[in-house]
Amino acid sequence: MASLSHLQLSLLLLPLFNLPFVSSSWSTFERERDYSNWISWNLKNYQQRATRKVESLVEAPAGRIKALDGKLRRAEMNRVRIWVCQKGTGDFKTITEALNSIALYNKRRVILMIKPGVFREKISIPGTLPFVTLSGDASDPPTITGNDTASVSGSDGMPLGTFHSATVAVDANYFVAINMKFENTAPHEIGSPGGQGVALRISGTKAGFYNCSFYGTQDTLYDHKGLHYFNNCFFQGSVDFIFGYGRSLYESCYLNSIAKKVASVTAQKRTNASLASGFSFKDSVVTGSGRVYLGRAWGDYSRVVFSYTFLDKIVLPQGWSDWGDQKRDLGVYYGEYKCSGPGAANLTERVPWARMLTYEDAKPFIGTHYVEGDTWLVRP
Ligand SMILES: *[C@@H]1O[C@H](CO)[C@@H](O)[C@H](O)[C@H]1NC(C)=O
Ligand SMILES: *[C@@H]1O[C@H](CO)[C@@H](O)[C@H](O)[C@H]1NC(C)=O
Ligand SMILES: *[C@@H]1O[C@H](CO)[C@@H](O)[C@H](O)[C@H]1NC(C)=O
Ligand SMILES: *[C@@H]1O[C@H](CO)[C@@H](O)[C@H](O)[C@H]1NC(C)=O
Repeated sequence: MASLSHLQLSLLLLPLFNLPFVSSSWSTFERERDYSNWISWNLKNYQQRATRKVESLVEAPAGRIKALDGKLRRAEMNRVRIWVCQKGTGDFKTITEALNSIALYNKRRVILMIKPGVFREKISIPGTLPFVTLSGDASDPPTITGNDTASVSGSDGMPLGTFHSATVAVDANYFVAINMKFENTAPHEIGSPGGQGVALRISGTKAGFYNCSFYGTQDTLYDHKGLHYFNNCFFQGSVDFIFGYGRSLYESCYLNSIAKKVASVTAQKRTNASLASGFSFKDSVVTGSGRVYLGRAWGDYSRVVFSYTFLDKIVLPQGWSDWGDQKRDLGVYYGEYKCSGPGAANLTERVPWARMLTYEDAKPFIGTHYVEGDTWLVRP
């Protein structure tokens, strides 16, 4: 199994692309750890953009420019920390106990500082617990592990289903995870029914994941719904390992297939043209074993874009799959922009409905504006 340090090494080996405007200002910002600096950076940028009124490189579409939302701003200014340590030197020994200590309809950012360890807990963060952060140590991230699958019986004797198989289920808004490892260790044989085992399901909106890793086989990350941002994260799975109808930006992420045969990396479920959902992968890597489609259409209007991403030789020449339903060829939006590597070198066999994007086409997808980041992204 690849470790996070392997991930970080691999990301360092990524070819350097022309980083657009937003990325360079982010990295300047990265050096400023202090939250109040971030607030002023955010506000300053907002004001600059509002007055500039230019179509600069990666500019948010008109009308989307807003300052950090008020509820979030207040929550961040009143941060509290809780320590979780299995050895008993923190406030709680389990993540579940720590979560249970938070008042419902909590209005403050509550950061669970989690000491290294393997936590065999099934975690549910309900909608009534917004502003929760799970924070681990970058050098030894804590693991939350489980092995439920869709076919395992729940407390009512009925099969859990994919939705409830998740080791960690987040229904709350404004969730953040930093340096965490989420795992579902259920084994899976391709074609066996009920083998779906979700490591993490995110159904709340405005969620950020930094330096996290997600391990599973079939259906690793259920990117269910809402606005999500993933940075420097690692995903491992065999089939559809990122799926759902979230509107998400994956930046500098590493998608590692452990498929043995033919599989799909994503299954994005945009079911109608008016849904603003889709997955955008930027500055990322698709690699591993098997032969993979970049995406297969779970919904008729499935939308996925890969930009500036290294596509390894495991990517099938056809690139994308309509899941055997040809009417989806007309509705899906499967785009590629400035990808590199053997999987992007020869596009003659790409399905005709794959889109090779121009800069203008790609622009809406290749910045944090894609997830309305101005209003809620708080750099950890
Ligand atoms: C899941 O993990 C538990 C605890 O380690 C174990 O007892 C059980 O056999 C596992 N189930 C499967 C299907 O592997
Ligand atoms: C993420 O990992 C990198 C590399 O190990 C580290 O430098 C950085 O501080 C981590 N980010 C956070 C938010 O901990
Ligand atoms: C599109 O799908 C969403 C979510 O399922 C639904 O709420 C909405 O009504 C649908 N819109 C149309 C035009 O079908
Ligand atoms: C690209 O692939 C096609 C079909 O497999 C093949 O005929 C062609 O020679 C390839 N082109 C290059 C430049 O490798």
